[in-house]
Amino acid sequence: MNIIITGGAGFIGSNFVFHMLKEHPQDRVICLDKLTYAGNLSTLAPVMDQDNFRFVKADICDRNAVYRLFEEEHPDVIVNFAAESHVDRSIENPAIFLETNIMGTAVLMDACRKYGIQRYHQVSTDEVYGDLPLDRPDLFFTETTPIHTSSPYSSSKASADLLVLAYHRTYGLPVTISRCSNNYGPYHFPEKLIPLMIINALHDKPLPVYGDGLNVRDWLYVEDHCRAIDLILQKGRVGEVYNVGGHNEMRNIDIVKLICKELGKPESLIHHVTDRKGHDRRYAIDPTKIHKELGWLPETKFADGIKKTIQWYLDHEDWWQPIISGEYQQYYQKMYGSRG
Ligand code: NAD
Ligand code: TYD
Repeated sequence: MNIIITGGAGFIGSNFVFHMLKEHPQDRVICLDKLTYAGNLSTLAPVMDQDNFRFVKADICDRNAVYRLFEEEHPDVIVNFAAESHVDRSIENPAIFLETNIMGTAVLMDACRKYGIQRYHQVSTDEVYGDLPLDRPDLFFTETTPIHTSSPYSSSKASADLLVLAYHRTYGLPVTISRCSNNYGPYHFPEKLIPLMIINALHDKPLPVYGDGLNVRDWLYVEDHCRAIDLILQKGRVGEVYNVGGHNEMRNIDIVKLICKELGKPESLIHHVTDRKGHDRRYAIDPTKIHKELGWLPETKFADGIKKTIQWYLDHEDWWQPIISGEYQQYYQKMYGSRG
């Protein structure tokens, strides 16, 4: 099988590239990535010379480049991770989110229609369901929860999902969609909560918690997400959406305190800063469908996963140091300098 993985130089995409090469060594994996600020070719260095792996630097919005790649590789399966993925950046500049997340998805699916494929899989997010109130712990997102977005990021992801389902209904494209909760693990870009807090704590820098810090996210170890997508490709029903989450709800403030504890840093590093605009209160996934239909269950408990993740950042300064010493500095100053 030839599989194109878009966004494979980013956080989840790279973990998925490694997962597929390990679990399906007979398959050929082609990674298509634009290498934006979030894409990192050094992440893929361990597999770059493998015979059944190819890296192509291209933009999913570039129709000619995408069609050329389909002509060269005759892919059977496309898994689309490529996206602008950071909510705070989407609040600053929505346009690129619409371009990549919506138009890029359309270009990929047009290529699938033109050349024919067995499966197009869209990697989506639980954020398309909006948020849940903190005082209703009985409520969870199911696949039939109405789409109700808050940020330009989640709106762009929801738009892409609607387009994917429309291509299925209108053109019969064999699609599946997964909507996963917040991932954590190796190669997570340090603008996101967990790696940002680990790296700041290591430098004894302030830990900027938005608002009251009581917002809840449902955290899943990245490898569990990769296994879920692999299963959906193998056994998922075409035209279906699968929620992926591990019933692991945590308040932001508790995660930051845990990171302080694990690193032996004082909680006095924690600073409550101006809240994110439109900040979603709580995400919580009901994963019954993927469990019952495909037998998927998360394998990594948060207590173990967070220890592994912290250890990974301690062991891989060579991966994150070049990131935080580059343009990331300007980003950090812009986003946090005046947050107070
Ligand atoms: P990321 O920002 O770490 O990586 C995105 C990758 O896409 C980068 O390698 C980047 O270079 C590439 N890319 C961006 N624009 C591109 C373009 N126009 N053409 C080709 N490549 C492009 O993101 P991530 O956290 O790994 O998320 C991957 C996917 O999973 C996204 O679609 C995101 O919406 C979804 N998702 C993420 C989470 C999470 O917790 N991180 C949870 C659920 C779903
Ligand atoms: P993030 O990692 O950006 O993921 P998402 O917004 O997609 O859930 O943020 C996770 C949570 O952490 C979210 O509630 C915002 C909060 N947060 C902070 O409190 N401080 C920070 O510096 C960042 C990046 C996030």
